[in-house]
Amino acid sequence: MLKIDALSVTYGGLLALDQVSIRADEGEFIAIVGPNGAGKSTLFKAISGTVAAASGTISLDGTDLLAVAPPMRPHRGIAHVPEGRQVFKSLSVADNIAMGAWPLAPRAAEWTQTLERVHALFPVLAERRDQLAGTLSGGEQQMLAIARALAGKPRLLLLDEPSMGLSPRIADLIFDCIQTVHKTEGMTVVLVEQRAVEALSSCNRGYVLESGRIVLQGSQADLLGDDRVRKVYLGR
Ligand SMILES: Nc1ncnc2c1ncn2[C@@H]1O[C@H](COP(=O)(O)OP(=O)(O)OP(=O)(O)O)[C@@H](O)[C@H]1O
Ligand SMILES: [Mg+2]
Repeated sequence: MLKIDALSVTYGGLLALDQVSIRADEGEFIAIVGPNGAGKSTLFKAISGTVAAASGTISLDGTDLLAVAPPMRPHRGIAHVPEGRQVFKSLSVADNIAMGAWPLAPRAAEWTQTLERVHALFPVLAERRDQLAGTLSGGEQQMLAIARALAGKPRLLLLDEPSMGLSPRIADLIFDCIQTVHKTEGMTVVLVEQRAVEALSSCNRGYVLESGRIVLQGSQADLLGDDRVRKVYLGR
C-alpha cells in the first residue's frame, strides 16, 4: 500500500535521505531501525509532507502522495505519531483524541464509537479523560498520542520512536499496546525505533537505515539472524 522509491531529502544542501526505497504491504508491520541522525524522522516527515522530497516518489495505493497537499494526507488514511508525542498539553485527554478524529468529521454516534474503541485499547485514557494532557506521565502521553492517531481510523500508522524517554517497563507496555493495535485494528504499521530488539521482534519485515541510506532489509528472521545487526543493534 505504501511504496517509496529512491526518495532523497536535503536540508539546506545536506543530504538527510539518500535514495531510500521502502515498501509496506497492506496489514504489514514494518520496523525501521537506525542510530541517531540516520534520517528516520525525516522519512516520516516526507510521508506526512512536513519536509519536501528533493527527488524520488512516494505512493499510497498507487496514487502519487507527493501530489497531495500535506494537510490533505490524513484524509488519505495516514496517521503520524511524531517523535516526542506532541500532545496538545493544554487540552484535555478527550479533546486531544477529538483532534485526531477531525479527518473523519465524526457525527455524535461515530464519536462515541471512536471513544469506546480507543478506551478499550487504552483504559487509562478513559479514567483520565478530563485531565490536561500536559499533566499525564510520559507513558500515558505516548498512549494518548497513539489514541489520537487511531481516532482518525487511519489505514497506515507511522510511529516515531514511541519508546523514547520511557522506562524499560513502560516501553514494553507501549510495544505490547502497539502489537494489540496492529492485531485488533489490522492496519499497516511502520515503526521507527532505536530500540532494535523490541522493534524487530514486533515486525514482519524491517529495514536498517544509517546515514540516510538503507543498508539492510529483510524479514524479521533475516534481520534478527544477521551478524552485523546482532552485533551493532542487538549487542550480542
Ligand atoms: N530541520 C532540519 N534542518 C537541518 N537539518 C536537519 C533538520 N532536521 C533534521 N536534520 C538533520 O537530518 C539528519 C536526519 O535527522 P532525523 O531527525 O531524520 O534523524 P533520526 O534518525 O530521526 O534521529 P533520532 O534517532 O535522533 O531521532 C540529521 O543529521 C539532522 O541533523
Ligand atoms: Mg528521529
